[in-house]
Amino acid sequence: MTQTKTRQWRLARRPVGMAQEADFTLAEADLTAPREGEALVRTIYLSVDPYMRGRISEGPSYASPVPIGGVMVGGTVGQVLASRDPDIKDGDLVVGYWGWQDHAVVKARGLTKLDPKDAPISTAVGVLGMPGRTAYFGLLDVGLPRPGDTVFVSGAAGAVGATVGQIARITGCTAVGSAGGGAKIAYLKEIGFDGTLDYKAENDLRAALDRACPKGIDVYFDNVGGALTDAVLERINLGARVVICGQIAGYNERGKEQGPRNLWQLIVKRARIQGMLVSDFDHRADEANTRLRQWIREGRIKYRETVVDGLENAPKAFIGLFTGANIGKQLVRVGPDPTR
Ligand SMILES: NC(=O)c1ccc[n+]([C@@H]2O[C@H](COP(=O)([O-])OP(=O)(O)OC[C@H]3O[C@@H](n4cnc5c(N)ncnc54)[C@H](OP(=O)(O)O)[C@@H]3O)[C@@H](O)[C@H]2O)c1
Repeated sequence: MTQTKTRQWRLARRPVGMAQEADFTLAEADLTAPREGEALVRTIYLSVDPYMRGRISEGPSYASPVPIGGVMVGGTVGQVLASRDPDIKDGDLVVGYWGWQDHAVVKARGLTKLDPKDAPISTAVGVLGMPGRTAYFGLLDVGLPRPGDTVFVSGAAGAVGATVGQIARITGCTAVGSAGGGAKIAYLKEIGFDGTLDYKAENDLRAALDRACPKGIDVYFDNVGGALTDAVLERINLGARVVICGQIAGYNERGKEQGPRNLWQLIVKRARIQGMLVSDFDHRADEANTRLRQWIREGRIKYRETVVDGLENAPKAFIGLFTGANIGKQLVRVGPDPTR
């Protein structure tokens, strides 16, 4: 084995409020030679995602936190350098979950092989990966959209939100999305959103929602929470479905979380509000993958990636998710992509 070391980002301390680069340390570690059933992989793409803010905090969640000194977790796409598993060959391109490091020795059964002829390999952690599945199941299974509905998506220019809006249109709905800034609003128009709302440019969110959704809102796909959700709940229609997918506006809050202040509206409109977690749908991943792939081939779903180069920039890319630096899926290119 020629590769005997890896560089890895470890959690140095638990952030207070917005994460900072100093909350992470870049360290070098020795790699052990792969044993039977293991493979040595090199990282090509690392996915940084908002849920990682939860993993670096303590407190009750659906997954245990990264310990102080632990390697940061994360979805990864890479290439096998040495395999000791009959199903994985040297040179294979794979998707896995080995975190913020440039090499790793991992269990081969945690790897899924990728065929670059099928789709660009980076999409395995994007539109054809966890964020794509979140959009698919969150909208179709939890939001239950019907043709003619108005679907309002917050965080619409991100990895999940952009896909939600396009699936809503495929389902025969009117898709309206909110995002921060002119470039993101232009992107939403480019990928076919019927209506948009730039929440950073609006002083009066309620009036802006009335303009963007003149027929009210039948499905609210919430990636953000906060003041926008308060305003949306006052504009839902009878029998509306509210999908709580993410609450990114509150992920860096230091104080006690503010709940939605107008749940009364759920009574008035006999509406349903439901949280969703993508891993509950893992057993149906193939279904989402097949349909999303088909829609991409047909040009009905478009996707964008924001790529930052270099493992050393992983914390910066992660923090950028909370300042809105990304359009579409935020990736870190850690090593060369042999397919491009
Ligand atoms: N429940 C699940 O299973 C599941 C799975 C995946 C993701 N999620 C959630 O879905 C949401 C979107 O995830 P993603 O991976 O697609 O990320 P993303 O939308 O690609 O990136 C995050 C975006 O959030 C917006 N944002 C950041 N801080 C904000 C704030 N204070 N107020 C309003 N918007 C803010 C920014 O866009 P702007 O420039 O528009 O502000 C930023 O670009 C996140 O809340 C995430 O936690 C949930």
